[in-house]
This record gives sequence, C-alpha cells and structure tokens, in this order.
Amino acid sequence: MADRIMIALDNVSKIYGSGQHAITALKDVNLHVPQGDIHGVIGLSGAGKSTLIRCVNLLERPTTGHVSVDDQELTALDRATLNRARHGIGMIFQHFNLLTSRTVFDNVALPLELMRMDKNTIRERVQPLLDLTGLADKADSYPAELSGGQKQRVAIARALASRPKVLLCDEATSALDPQTTSSILGLLEDINRRLGLTILLITHEMEVVKSICHRVSLISDGELVEEAEVGDFFTSPRTHLARRFINDFLEIEPPQSLLDHLQNDPTPGSHPVLRLAYSGDEISTPLISRLARACDIDISILEAKVESIRHRTLGLMIAELVGPPEKTREALAYLEDHDLTVEVLGHVRRHD
Ligand SMILES: Nc1ncnc2c1ncn2[C@@H]1O[C@H](COP(=O)(O)OP(=O)(O)O)[C@@H](O)[C@H]1O
Ligand SMILES: [Mg+2]
Repeated sequence: MADRIMIALDNVSKIYGSGQHAITALKDVNLHVPQGDIHGVIGLSGAGKSTLIRCVNLLERPTTGHVSVDDQELTALDRATLNRARHGIGMIFQHFNLLTSRTVFDNVALPLELMRMDKNTIRERVQPLLDLTGLADKADSYPAELSGGQKQRVAIARALASRPKVLLCDEATSALDPQTTSSILGLLEDINRRLGLTILLITHEMEVVKSICHRVSLISDGELVEEAEVGDFFTSPRTHLARRFINDFLEIEPPQSLLDHLQNDPTPGSHPVLRLAYSGDEISTPLISRLARACDIDISILEAKVESIRHRTLGLMIAELVGPPEKTREALAYLEDHDLTVEVLGHVRRHD
C-alpha cells in the first residue's frame, strides 16, 4: 500500500506585497509528506522556510496553489471550517510564544479552553502531556521561571493539546544550546514514534536534519531544489548548495597550505587532489589500501571524517593521488566503480 500523504503542497507560490515592492517568497513548491514521517526543510536565511511552513496551516495564504492536510484541502475551506481543521495541526516556534501571565498548566490548557472544553476534560488532557514532556513538577510555574528548553517543552505540550496529526516546527531549536537542542529533538522523535505524529520542521542546521529527519528538502530562493532520504542527501547531494551545507557541517576543507597551491588544470608532474565521499558499508582504510594495490599508486590522506547518519556511515576524505597520469586516471575510474562520489578539487605540484 502506498504511504498515505498527510501534508500536500501543490504548486504553491507566495508573493508578498505587489507591484514594485513585490517579493516572491515561494515559487511553485510541491511537497508531499507521508503520514508518520519527520520531514525537514533546510535552507539559508531568507530562503522562504518560514513562509513555507506558515502556508501549511494558512497562517500565510499562498498566492497560488493548493494545500491539503489529512486529505482536507485547507485552501478551499471557509473560515469556520478552517479553524476546526487547524486543531489537527500543532505548531511550535523558535521563541516559544508562551503567555507570560499564565502558568505552565494554563498555557497548555489554552487551546482546549478556546475549544470550550470543560475543566475536567482539560485536566485529563493536560496532565499526561505534562508527564510526556517532562514538566509534571512545573505545572504551577510561570514561563519566566523556566529554562529555554523547558519553555519549548511547554510549547510542545500546548501544540499537542488538541491531539493534532501534524506538528509544524519553525526553527524550534535555534534559540537553544546544543545539549538542550538534542534533548528537544529527542522529545520530538519520541512523540513521532509514540503518537505517530507527522512532523514538518524547518531549520538552517544540518545537525537537526541529521538527528531526527527521515527525509529532507532543500529550499533556495523560494524553490525546492532537492528532496531526498536523509542518508542519500548527505552521501549523494545533487546541488552545489547541498554540498555546501554538508561541507560546512562536516567542516572538511583542504588545508589552506594546499589550497594556496591548487591549480585548475593538470601540468606535468602535478597530482590530482580529490574530495571523496563514501557511504554505507565501505570502510575507508581497506578501500584505500585496495585502491593503492590495485592501481599501484600512493594515496596521501589530507583530511578525513566519518559520521554516522541514520544507521549509515558517511565518510568524507580529502586525498592526493600520487602517481603517473595513467595510473591516477585508472585510480579515479576504480573509485567511481566502487560507488564513491569523487570530486576533483584541482591539481598540485609537489616540489620535492
Ligand atoms: N510578511 C512579510 N512581508 C514581506 N516580505 C516578507 C514577509 N515575510 C517574509 N518576507 C520575505 O520573504 C522572503 C522569505 O522569508 P522567510 O520565509 O522568513 O525566510 P526564512 O524563514 O527562510 O528565513 C524574505 O525575502 C523575506 O524578507
Ligand atoms: Mg524563518
């Protein structure tokens, strides 16, 4: 059975303002998120991430296109029906957006009060959410008495109060330190597993994508330019921008001393410098030593990093192939045959 689609954006465009001052924030975006997935949208600042996620619950209305959540086309609903449909969509924000004059309990209870639930039902709903989010002993505290991580937990509990099927997260961990970030991401993953909640999150941090997303879309200037399973995204990026994100995340760049001597074209006596990416079960050391033996060549490893991403291994390496031109050509073919992503960064000539 095909996965049921929980969130569908079809040909969504968003233009802010008009005439001379018009800003196109989204261009013909198509995004389908199956039920139970954690889908990340990553992009640089100003790329249109917040606009995209706000179009899902129509906090922003798309200029053109259709938005459906749980098989209901939101863009076709009248206001009253839309308000009811929104109970099925929770949202959390970078700056938590809690009411400072309300206790933790009353913040979580707020959406239920707005739904006119009676006090007993509200209590029965809120208490388990405080337990789930680790806030059982904070029910009577005020937001000012909480840490950033605790505030985001309150926001998560509040977002879950109406028992949504979808949770939207707009840079939910961007205001938090790394340790708190990982505890909040752990909570989101737990909620996804336990409640089967579909999560769409936007972020500018690869760490977030790596930690909990199943699939990821890359947004650039309002366009989705790449969409992939997270392991594939890290190991076989298709766009320059994706490679930039990955390289920044892995922080693997050739040493400056090498860059200073890197030339675009080979010259007599020069050697190619490669960026190698491998994934899956390939382990760098045997592959490299096998390559050295098979092609009778020397390989000098200048930088290397191994990351574990969604039960897969991603290795990145910057290496220089040292040997005569026909041997280095052979070695490049060997590497490509073994499913490595090979990028020739340039050529260096050693004066030794
Ligand atoms: N309410 C608005 N009015 C006008 N322009 C906006 C508005 N919101 C966002 N924009 C513009 O739309 C573009 C995308 O913004 P945004 O969706 O906030 O990007 P991101 O969340 O990726 O940083 C930016 O150029 C931004 O300045
Ligand atoms: Mg934003």
